[in-house]
Amino acid sequence: MKKIIAVASFTAVLLASCTPKVSTATTPTGPATSTAEQIAQGKTIFENSCGRCHKLPDPTKHSSVQWVGIMNAMAPKAKLTDEQHQWVYDYIVSVKK
Ligand code: HEC
Repeated sequence: MKKIIAVASFTAVLLASCTPKVSTATTPTGPATSTAEQIAQGKTIFENSCGRCHKLPDPTKHSSVQWVGIMNAMAPKAKLTDEQHQWVYDYIVSVKK
């Protein structure tokens, strides 16, 4: 049952992410593109996927601009979907702040 709810909310997130951005955000200090849940997912994906071929990289070791390029190179290696790529990137950037 829990799983169904999780899948349903996941679908809702996917659908929501397809609709144009509306300025309903109540927390101006929050992340611009991802919800806290998506960043939490990004963290899990990062920890599970990015330490397989090398040591888990330190998000603070590169600038957010450098991370765009690194993620473009590494996301295919880690076989991430476009969403996962975005979540992992947003997680990395959130660690740096
Ligand atoms: C299939 C193996 C593989 C996976 C999975 C993988 N990497 Fe890598 N990664 C490499 C290899 C090989 C290199 C070094 C050669 C290169 O730069 O292409 C590297 C290098 C790096 C570097 C150093 C780049 C630099 O410019 O110093 C970072 C940072 C990095 N990976 C991050 C990640 C992240 C984040 C993920 C998860 C999304 C990830 N990697 C997943 C193989 C992998």
